[in-house]
Amino acid sequence: MADKKARLTVDGLDEAIELPVYSGTEGPDVIDVRPLTGNGLFTYDPGFVSTAACESKITYIDGANGILLHRGYPIEQLAEKSDYLEVCYLLLNGELPTAEQKEKFVNTISNHTMVHEQLSQFFKGFRRDAHPMAIMCGVVGALSAFYHDSLDINDPHHREVCAYRLIAKMPTLAAMCYKYSIGQPFMYPQNNLSYGENFLRMMFGTPCADYEVNPVLARAMDRIFILHADHEQNASTSTVRLAGSSGANPFACIAAGIAALWGPAHGGANEAVLNMLDEIGDAENIPEFIEKAKDPNDPFRLMGFGHRVYRNFDPRAKVMKKTCDEVLGLLGIENDPQLQIAKQLEQIALEDEYFVKRKLYPNVDFYSGIILKAIGIPTNMFTVIFALSRTIGWISHWNEFHSSPNKIGRPRQLYTGEQQRDYPA
Ligand code: SDX
Repeated sequence: MADKKARLTVDGLDEAIELPVYSGTEGPDVIDVRPLTGNGLFTYDPGFVSTAACESKITYIDGANGILLHRGYPIEQLAEKSDYLEVCYLLLNGELPTAEQKEKFVNTISNHTMVHEQLSQFFKGFRRDAHPMAIMCGVVGALSAFYHDSLDINDPHHREVCAYRLIAKMPTLAAMCYKYSIGQPFMYPQNNLSYGENFLRMMFGTPCADYEVNPVLARAMDRIFILHADHEQNASTSTVRLAGSSGANPFACIAAGIAALWGPAHGGANEAVLNMLDEIGDAENIPEFIEKAKDPNDPFRLMGFGHRVYRNFDPRAKVMKKTCDEVLGLLGIENDPQLQIAKQLEQIALEDEYFVKRKLYPNVDFYSGIILKAIGIPTNMFTVIFALSRTIGWISHWNEFHSSPNKIGRPRQLYTGEQQRDYPA
């Protein structure tokens, strides 16, 4: 039921158009603009800056105050007290698991981490220097060729099985991308290891020797997974929802999300930050790059800075910076030159009128790459890690979409092309 009403008067219309206004539990009220169509009108919002595309209960962002809640729990508390698989359960089911529920969930995920043996054949078709995100788009989409037993999107049990399979297998596929790129054999997952430990062993272990996972790095990996798990209706999540609205199978929808995430304006920014820090090279070059970022005629932007929603610090960036200091300190590389450049860059930018006026702050991608590099992960794998982490967000939104009556997403347009004309006689 609408809480309030909006009335729109339009030149040329005799009467005002009455539009229902709904209030959520948090955040801005929304105006239901659907009655506009009956009056021959559309809304116009390129980039969806002011558009609520759906109703959701999963994640809430207060951009002005730098608040991020997952099912009501602040990201800072989850990063500190929870672990990634518990956050996966929370995002998917809406509540934190009991000890018994968590044990059952973790066991189920751990026992579904292997991929079909034939899937490894797909990798052989790629060049060794293929970008791992290109490979992930391919192999994740191909998963639907292996799981015909759980593709009924209207069956909640099938949707749960798909979610579990994706959570379980993404680290295996991600590590396979890396192993393929360096010509090493794929490592099978070990069911007795934690999610973060398993991933690091599949990345850096070899069949020739036992691999001892560094618990500090495993914890840092798990925290990075948590910080990237979900973020409301961002570009890749919106892509997954739109693909899902056509009835496409979940694996194809997640592959679409991976493709959307790859862009440097979105999840590709973490890789772009490290490339930018490499390009800056030395702190004395920072002023030159700050000026480039401010120059409207220069396409260069300060990667890892700015956000469509946050007009304050991205709360994930604060936790990421703290984790960065912890991990590099424990590894004895707190004086890492790129970390020093990043900190100076942040300090200068936060004091510069251009960034202050536009409320541009570091986002989740600004420090994540420095930690990933310290863990030993190559730059071209950073966005793969983001995709691995965000899979739970994508599949939770996909599941939420299919859990209630829905319709195919089909935006309209403002047409400014040619009016009808005849083909020359
Ligand atoms: C992610 O949506 C999500 O939630 C995404 C994400 C998630 O978890 O899913 O949080 C993950 O994608 C984080 C963002 C990673 N991207 C980057 O770090 C790339 C660098 N950032 C920019 O490309 C930009 O800030 C965006 C894309 C993130 C946001 O762009 P918007 O909302 O379209 O903002 P805008 O381009 O309208 O910028 C407003 C102004 C412009 O200047 P003016 O036209 O007002 O003069 O700020 C400027 C922009 O030029 N600006 C920047 C800048 N970001 C914005 N100028 C320099 N450097 C930047 N980074």
